[in-house]
Amino acid sequence: MHARSIATSREAPLLTRRGSVRRRANSEAIVTTKTFGAFALVALVAGVYLFVNAPPALPETRAVGGKKLSTRELLEICASENAVVRELYTKSIVEPALKVGLEFNEKWRDPNVDAGPLPALFLRATAESLARGSSRLGLFLGSDAPVNKANQFSGVQSDAFQQMRRDRLPRHFVMEDVKASAAMFPDVAVSKGCVDCHNKHADSPKHDWKMGDLMGATTLTLPSSSVSISEALETISALRKAFRDAYVAYVERAKKFSSSPEIGKKWPSEGFCLPDPDIFMEEAERRMSRATLDRLLSAR
Ligand code: HEC
Repeated sequence: MHARSIATSREAPLLTRRGSVRRRANSEAIVTTKTFGAFALVALVAGVYLFVNAPPALPETRAVGGKKLSTRELLEICASENAVVRELYTKSIVEPALKVGLEFNEKWRDPNVDAGPLPALFLRATAESLARGSSRLGLFLGSDAPVNKANQFSGVQSDAFQQMRRDRLPRHFVMEDVKASAAMFPDVAVSKGCVDCHNKHADSPKHDWKMGDLMGATTLTLPSSSVSISEALETISALRKAFRDAYVAYVERAKKFSSSPEIGKKWPSEGFCLPDPDIFMEEAERRMSRATLDRLLSAR
């Protein structure tokens, strides 16, 4: 899984470049298809507006566009958005949904299994959606005692995780092999659900996890050392789209369950229900947007 997301990181710059070329081509096309009369009218109105208001619009725009964010700052923003969604999905979907009889397991994509993605698999679905798109952001949840061997840390990630075991602080490092900046954030057993499920899972190599234990870490990667504000915004939008895609995939499965929950405005704490993707994302965005905006505004 990890190899896959990194491989995409390597291809992505091409895609991003193509994306911006496409945008330029579009705006040229718009100009050439305007009739001269309409163009003159627009120019006149704009001229009057500029004359009357005389705002120094261009320099201001340029100043904002010229701001740079270190990759470290961008990965911190993405990691906290991911943490918000992970907690929302675990505590407001999975845990109450288990109580009303919905199931979650590894086989959730199987059309014959009426189950949703476990929190770790929700994260993986998010990572897969990111990898399919043009974003260069990579996302991976690993551990040194994983239920799934594919999630075992290796190389520099393993070293960083061993250091994290000592002080629980995030780690920033470079992955030379894939030429990416990486940031690793602790994944802690924040609810009893985490501990119980891992302890009783047959494939888990460890059965004595306790509340508050460091169970693993989320690694985010981006193959550059700094980004413009607009690249940062594109990355954050791509990440939010990927959260949405992962949730949509779950809701689409749930609609086909033999006993399917009501999908609408209600949450599983209110009954045999799931919020629709708009409601889910609205709540996620309500929880994360303020912090993200503050961090973007403090960029130099
Ligand atoms: C209902 C069961 C269940 C719950 C609840 C659950 N997990 Fe997991 N978790 C799993 C399974 C199964 C995997 C392996 C998924 C895969 O195939 O990649 C996993 C994967 C992980 C991984 C990646 C390493 C590994 O073990 O493969 C971490 C880290 C992790 N979970 C932490 C947590 C934390 C923290 C919570 C609570 C916020 C949590 N889990 C809740 C079952 C669960």
